Amino acid sequence: MFKKSLMLFLVLLSQQAAATSYSFGFASDAGMKLPGAKLVHDGLVAEGLTELILGGDQLYNTKDSYEDVWGDWTEFNWFAVAHGNHYLTLEQEQKYFGMPSDYYAKNAGKNIRFLILNSESETNINEQAAWYENQLAQAKEQFLFVVLHHPPYTLSKYHTWEEREEFHKIIRPITMKYQSKITSIFTGHDHFAALYRLNDLTWVHSGAALQHKAVGVAKTDVEPGIMLKTEWLYDQTYHFTRLDVNDATGVAKVSFIRAKDLSRSCIVTLAPVYSMDETCESVAMR
Ligand SMILES: [Fe+2]
Repeated sequence: MFKKSLMLFLVLLSQQAAATSYSFGFASDAGMKLPGAKLVHDGLVAEGLTELILGGDQLYNTKDSYEDVWGDWTEFNWFAVAHGNHYLTLEQEQKYFGMPSDYYAKNAGKNIRFLILNSESETNINEQAAWYENQLAQAKEQFLFVVLHHPPYTLSKYHTWEEREEFHKIIRPITMKYQSKITSIFTGHDHFAALYRLNDLTWVHSGAALQHKAVGVAKTDVEPGIMLKTEWLYDQTYHFTRLDVNDATGVAKVSFIRAKDLSRSCIVTLAPVYSMDETCESVAMR
């Protein structure tokens, strides 16, 4: 019996050691039972993704419960969830999705780390900032991703960064200070999909689950020494995003996926060297 258990343990251990490839679905702003969310759900299932990252706004109508909205997303593990500005209570959201706190770190294997921030916070920003800076300073992982709901700079006419001015004024400089350590940031809140660079920091914006709004191209100095540049814009259809990371090859890729037919509208290599696939050019820059 003991021998059998030991064998099983060793087999499991060797399988874990061999796991070098990780895939995640990323969806944001999906907190209502609408056709876009259904398409995104079905797309994530069809992609075979089981580990999900949610970028906020998990519940728009406070007459709904989390179970009402998310109860049939049974195929997934909530790998990481960030709070947005639409929720029941932070406590209920954390309990439903198994979040350890309103901000936290989560690892996949030894080499991939996610830092999840609570950009909705008005009460613990300094505490988060101290934690965030410490996390970034100490991080030794090959891949480091930051997930937060509110875009740190204004991307569209629908929202401005000043909606969370206090948060961004404190958190943003920390992100930029450690930009070379961050593989990419992920945001939602604005209901469209696009790829940006903030200087050399790659910024994946994926908020087109319920709506697909029009957005323009940005190429502007958002602050002295910081250039915000649109790298790619979607075609105004429902989108979700998948993140594939292989810590053996050192390659991390993000794919923007059209929910209606799972076609790739843009594939971006985040690491080891940032580049956009030719698919990204098939959508004309507007
Ligand atoms: Fe939002």
